[in-house]
Amino acid sequence: MKLLSTLFVACGLMTVNVANAAIDADAAQAIMKKGGCTTCHKLDKAGVGPSIKDIAKKQKGKAGAADELKKAIRDGSKGLYGADSAMPGIAASKISDADMTSLVQWILSQ
Ligand code: HEC
Repeated sequence: MKLLSTLFVACGLMTVNVANAAIDADAAQAIMKKGGCTTCHKLDKAGVGPSIKDIAKKQKGKAGAADELKKAIRDGSKGLYGADSAMPGIAASKISDADMTSLVQWILSQ
C-alpha cells in the first residue's frame, strides 16, 4: 500500500512536469504561427505588437506575470505598450490553454 501511494505521488509529479515542460524557440514559433501571433509579434523587432523581447523585458520577474500574460492573450490587452496599442483576445481554437502556458513560460525566459 505504501508502495502504491508512492507510485501515485510519483506519477502525479511526472504529470505536472510534462504539463510545464519547457519548450524551445522552434516549438514557441510553431505555437505562435498556429495562433496567428506572428502577424503582430516578432522575436526582437516591434511590429503591430511589441517584440517578444520587449514583452519579456517589461514583465519578467513581476509577481503574477505568467497569469497576467495569459489573461492578456485570451482576453486582449490595450494601452500597456503605447496609447494606441491594442491586441484582440485570441480564442482557444487558435491557442490552447496548455500551449499558452508553455508559450508564456518561454516568453518570460527571453
Ligand atoms: C492583431 C495583432 C496581434 C495579434 C494577432 C496578437 N497580438 Fe499580442 N499584442 C498585440 C499588441 C498591439 C499588444 C500590446 C497591447 C497593449 O499595449 O496593451 C500585444 C501584447 C501581447 C502580450 C503582452 C501582454 C502584457 O500584459 O504585457 C503578449 C504576451 C502577447 N501579446 C502575446 C500574443 C500571443 C501569444 C498571440 C497569439 C496567440 C498574440 N499576442 C497575437 C498585438 C497582437
